[in-house]
Amino acid sequence: MRTQVAIIGSGPAGLLLSHLLYLEGIESVIVERRDADHVKSRIRAGILESGTVGLLKEAGLGERLNEEALEHRGIYLQWPGERHHVDFVRHTGRPVWVYGQTELTADLMAAREHAERVAFYEADDVALHDIEGSHPHVTFRDSQGVRRCVDADVIAGCDGFHGPSRAAMPATGRRTWGRTYPFAWLGVLAAVAPSTDELIYAWHPDGFALHSMRSPRVSRFYLQVSPDEDGDEWRDDRIWEALATRLGEGHRGWRLRTGPITEKSVLPMRSFVTTPMRHGRLFLAGDAAHIVPPAGAKGLNLAVADVALLSRALVAWLRDGSEELASAYSDTALRRVWRCTHFSWWMTTMLHRHGDDFDAQLQLAQLHRVVASEAAARELAENYAGLPIEV
Ligand code: FAD
Ligand code: DHB
Repeated sequence: MRTQVAIIGSGPAGLLLSHLLYLEGIESVIVERRDADHVKSRIRAGILESGTVGLLKEAGLGERLNEEALEHRGIYLQWPGERHHVDFVRHTGRPVWVYGQTELTADLMAAREHAERVAFYEADDVALHDIEGSHPHVTFRDSQGVRRCVDADVIAGCDGFHGPSRAAMPATGRRTWGRTYPFAWLGVLAAVAPSTDELIYAWHPDGFALHSMRSPRVSRFYLQVSPDEDGDEWRDDRIWEALATRLGEGHRGWRLRTGPITEKSVLPMRSFVTTPMRHGRLFLAGDAAHIVPPAGAKGLNLAVADVALLSRALVAWLRDGSEELASAYSDTALRRVWRCTHFSWWMTTMLHRHGDDFDAQLQLAQLHRVVASEAAARELAENYAGLPIEV
């Protein structure tokens, strides 16, 4: 089988890339390891920057987003005895939207099915070949066990942190940077109306907590736990108690509503960047090239920004014959990646309990600064609400 762009991975990066290329008349084929239902049901990120929302709407993906996404002006920052609103719209003119990654994935998969773009789910032994030559191709066994080969002009590695694309880049010239954090998140989904109008990021001596949401009837919470934590050790009443304490129940009469917990899992936390994001005819996008800890809500938005740049570059190259944007892709994308890597690290280290009491006082001093200074609040707001695709 032959196509123009062989895309490995059917996460948000791969699906959106395929859609943006299709709109410009460029063919692609997706090869994905998991089955389609699994891909659709993975609960992950929840916040979209306004640039992300603008891009999705321009790409004709705004129908359900317009109906169901919740527009938020800002976030609350909290520590014991204090809760402060940081107003992104006042500082930057831009809100953010709550719209689960599962919803975005469903929209992208529906668009792919509607346009009858080819995808192979449940692909095994996916391997990349000849990325330095002029005949790159991807081989795999399909869901029936039949060996297949997709020949392409270029390969897009959108296969997340554990996929084969990054490993296919030659070691010479490649560099990686990373940090693993000494804590993790216990993510909890609950069938209960949110107890807040906007997200609450809470610093607490027991550890960080985040109150997010998915809809007017579904809440999403995160609790800082240790990386080797067994999620099963967290019974529902223990979860609600920890959330109530860390989110400041009782402060000015605020109460946490509780309800049935429908999903919980422990998420490890790391920062990771690999460079370059292009080698020969292989381009990396999204988590295949970089991981951020989730406190800045950047992972999904970064994947979308990469793909916005990459689709433009591939259209210019494969349709119009100009390789200039493709040659600039890695450097252009990495400027934004490093900015978001810094912001995510900064939010993470400011909000999570680690180190000693001296560290705790520094964190509190930083939190006070963010809510007391217009300049400091604007710095957080600009980064959280989203920087331009090209920084
Ligand atoms: P992915 O979504 O990881 O997609 C990669 C795809 O490639 C997957 O479908 C995978 O099955 C496929 N693949 C892997 N290996 C192969 C192979 N060998 N062959 C073919 N296909 C393969 N971000 C936030 O901002 N907030 C959050 O709360 C948050 N929570 C997260 C929770 C978890 C458990 C994880 C893993 C991530 C979370 N993230 C969060 C990050 C965010 O979800 C990612 O940044 C985003 O999914 C990146 O999209 P992607 O398409 O680059 O990668
Ligand atoms: C969500 C996840 C985040 O990492 C974050 O910073 C805010 C919200 C969420 O899943 O809703």
